Amino acid sequence: LNGRPTSIAFVGFMGAGKSTAAHVVARELGLEVADTDEMVAREAGTSIAALFANEGEAGFREREERVVLEALSRGGVVSLGGGAVESERVRAALREHVTVWCEVGVDVAWARCSGTDRPLARNRDGFKRRFAARSPLYAEVARVHMPTEDRSVPPVAPWLSALRDLPGVAMIWARSRSGSYPALIGEGATRLLDPVSAPAPGARTFAIADRGALAATGEMLPATGERPPLEVEGGEPAKTFAAAEGILASLIEAGVRRDDALLAFGGGVVGDLAGFCAAVYQRGVPIVQVPTTLVAQVDSAYGGKTGVDMPQAKNYVGAFHQPWAVLADPAALRTLPAPELAAGFAEVVKTALIHGGDLWERVRAIEALDAEAVAPLIFDCARTKIDIVAADERDGGRRAVLNLGHTVGHAIEAASSYGRYRHGEAVALGMLAALRLSGQDELREEVAGLLERAGLPRSLDPAIAVDDVIEASGRDKKRTADGIGFVLVDGPGAVVHGAEVGVDSLRAAVNELTESGGR
Ligand SMILES: NC(=O)c1ccc[n+]([C@@H]2O[C@H](COP(=O)([O-])OP(=O)(O)OC[C@H]3O[C@@H](n4cnc5c(N)ncnc54)[C@H](O)[C@@H]3O)[C@@H](O)[C@H]2O)c1
Repeated sequence: LNGRPTSIAFVGFMGAGKSTAAHVVARELGLEVADTDEMVAREAGTSIAALFANEGEAGFREREERVVLEALSRGGVVSLGGGAVESERVRAALREHVTVWCEVGVDVAWARCSGTDRPLARNRDGFKRRFAARSPLYAEVARVHMPTEDRSVPPVAPWLSALRDLPGVAMIWARSRSGSYPALIGEGATRLLDPVSAPAPGARTFAIADRGALAATGEMLPATGERPPLEVEGGEPAKTFAAAEGILASLIEAGVRRDDALLAFGGGVVGDLAGFCAAVYQRGVPIVQVPTTLVAQVDSAYGGKTGVDMPQAKNYVGAFHQPWAVLADPAALRTLPAPELAAGFAEVVKTALIHGGDLWERVRAIEALDAEAVAPLIFDCARTKIDIVAADERDGGRRAVLNLGHTVGHAIEAASSYGRYRHGEAVALGMLAALRLSGQDELREEVAGLLERAGLPRSLDPAIAVDDVIEASGRDKKRTADGIGFVLVDGPGAVVHGAEVGVDSLRAAVNELTESGGR
């Protein structure tokens, strides 16, 4: 950057494991590590605890700021003290480097720090207050989010090294029980496969690419050697078992081995389809997801749900298969037709309702929908989804909130043979039904207005029979012996799952969608 060396800096609260992570990464990259707490102590010729006692926190921070700025300018790996981000000058400097936020929950941090000689870990309430005050500061400077709750350091080093040359790309290290992977988001992200190389040494990558995405923005397809991509159709009607069988046959013909990898280039349809093929081909090969639609960049590429539709019900056959990496470049959205962008916006609104807070405020403020307006939201939507999946990979609990609007949405898709609405459009209608079932009249009005401004429908095509939608809702995969289990909204940021809904209420909510204006 401007000819100055770029450092890899680790920030995070006390006990987050910054120093361990910094040492692992530095070793792998053959770089020096600077630990700023150690440097301050060395310079002062005393322990940090003694320094606090002698000079107070202010004295310590003054020394720390100087040491941190110096260490960052050297272009190595730097592990910062937890409070260094309180300095505005340090925050400004960190934004010029690859800053990694080692994230832990406050209880884990307290368990690791209490009873040690750390001067700021003596009183639990004070510790919690500091944690709350500093978290937004870490978020402000972080380009990389890396959970460190389980103390292990993921294979993050080559990605961090590559990020030094791509200042527009941010990364979330996604963890779930069955696998962990990097999600890289930002301008230039699709160029990252090359420097980091394929999933295993000697592995070849076979691309399965949406024909429409290739035609519109084929230059974003990561290089996969001499092998031409296998072209498939996008669009919901193409997400079938027959299409998967066709892809699997082509993979056999192309001689794809178990140590090779697949790459999905396109929207959610190709991502789900190719992901499913990767899950079952020779019982599983790695897949890189390169999402090119808004639906895929904010939602479908992450979380490992893959599958195909059956004529009777949507996504009924599939597998959980976490990606090896997700590379999402928002520049791909510039060629996306307006109705596709709008369909993705429905998932953005859904995610914002689930997350609430600042994300909801930013989304509700959008006046005109275009690729530039949504690009800054992609990272936060991805993060929301990845965090939810980390807590509950298999949909047994909290992950179910991601299905907000989807029970009725999927039913509308199935009842219209997947041909009438885009997935996002159906979700938009499903969300309005869910808000009605939640008794959220005012919020429903606001969401309906937002969706309508984006060009999404607010009323159901009268050609679709309400009875068919009700029947298809009963086949929703979220159905268990106890009933369907709806996702309802108490307010932005307060979404609950597993709510019981009677058939009469459901019918009233769907009926309302068919009335003029959907009011
Ligand atoms: N797995 C999950 O967790 C998950 C989550 C949400 C949605 N989904 C699935 O995602 C699917 C919908 O995905 P979608 O909305 O991306 O649809 P899609 O994949 O059908 O893509 C929509 C259209 O956009 C075109 N396209 C793609 N990229 C383009 C680009 N950059 N420029 C121009 N055109 C481009 C495609 O050719 C296609 O015609 C649904 O099947 C849904 O079930 C899955």
